[in-house]
Amino acid sequence: MKQRIITADNHYRELDQWVEKNGAKRILLVCDDSIQYHKELNAHLRQIENMGVELIRFCGFRPNPLYDSAAGGAKLFRDKGCGAIMAVGGGSAIDVAKCIKLFSNMDTAKNCLKQEIVPNSIPFLAMPTTAGTGSEATQYAVIYFNGAKQTVTHESCIPETILLDPGALKTLPAYQKKATMMDALCHGIESFWSVNSTEESREYSRAAIAGVMEHMDGYLANYDEGNAGMLTAANAAGKAINIAQTTAGHGMCYKITSLFGCAHGHAAILCDRVLFPWMIKNTDKCIDPRGESYLKETLSDIAKAMGCPNAIEGARKLQKIFDDLKLEIPAATELQLEELKGSINTVRFKNHPIKLDGEAIDMLYRRALRDFA
Ligand SMILES: [Fe+2]
Repeated sequence: MKQRIITADNHYRELDQWVEKNGAKRILLVCDDSIQYHKELNAHLRQIENMGVELIRFCGFRPNPLYDSAAGGAKLFRDKGCGAIMAVGGGSAIDVAKCIKLFSNMDTAKNCLKQEIVPNSIPFLAMPTTAGTGSEATQYAVIYFNGAKQTVTHESCIPETILLDPGALKTLPAYQKKATMMDALCHGIESFWSVNSTEESREYSRAAIAGVMEHMDGYLANYDEGNAGMLTAANAAGKAINIAQTTAGHGMCYKITSLFGCAHGHAAILCDRVLFPWMIKNTDKCIDPRGESYLKETLSDIAKAMGCPNAIEGARKLQKIFDDLKLEIPAATELQLEELKGSINTVRFKNHPIKLDGEAIDMLYRRALRDFA
């Protein structure tokens, strides 16, 4: 499905057009706390309400959203007679909105995760308020059911319209800005070397990496142009992982997040910055059917997208970017290392172009983290 990307230019003219075109009198607005800081958008949403469109706010979910929240949202959508969904927020808000769309024509009294997904044409607009997850571009929604992480996958949960509004990034805390940018960069890199990559996904990966490089300074300085560029780069990265998925870096990083309280993108770059140089030295263990020379070329292409002449320089640059951001390197005890090794996401490892055995994973975790002294 080709997504339409709209901007906030001319006082949200294209958002107004979307509201008019879908004709819904009631729109379910799925949003997280970040919306309160976006004064221009809020003022505009009030204008939309003054035009006779009711916005039913649904904020009843937390980061790492629960299944029950999404099922509750789907029930609210139906009970209020909503005709469209607008999601404003980070990855969790967008994931909840995706599930609401899918669950809205299911029996919410029963477990929706076990029911057949019948695609629907509910107008669905997503406005990401971080430049990182790329959730607005993917067919995946992560939701927790009885404490276990579930990934709902269906093409029809991809928003048909995306609103990229740089104003949404203005008030993001610096740490969140850095971490989400690193998530986008890791998506670009991992999707590029993924065994599932295609010609199309590689173009998105290339655009994502080059976009992060080009706009990093302006984004960190909070300029509109930098923020707009980073949103576009993160969106391209989302399109890339929608096709090629993520790999070992993401497979290793999930537990780092919960063990050390790091943001997801922070944990991902901790891993990718050590994976990249390790991969350069271990291309002979390539399991991508396209072969070792293809993998070598890919690593070099990643470096070129980063503005570097070769893979070694690319890996060095990735480390330098991490160092310059001054993101913390958590210290891990032996017990924590054992816990990390026991909790890797094996699905992600299957996408990785080089086989990682237990010894390699142990060594990579030790390089990614600090010794506990
Ligand atoms: Fe990610």
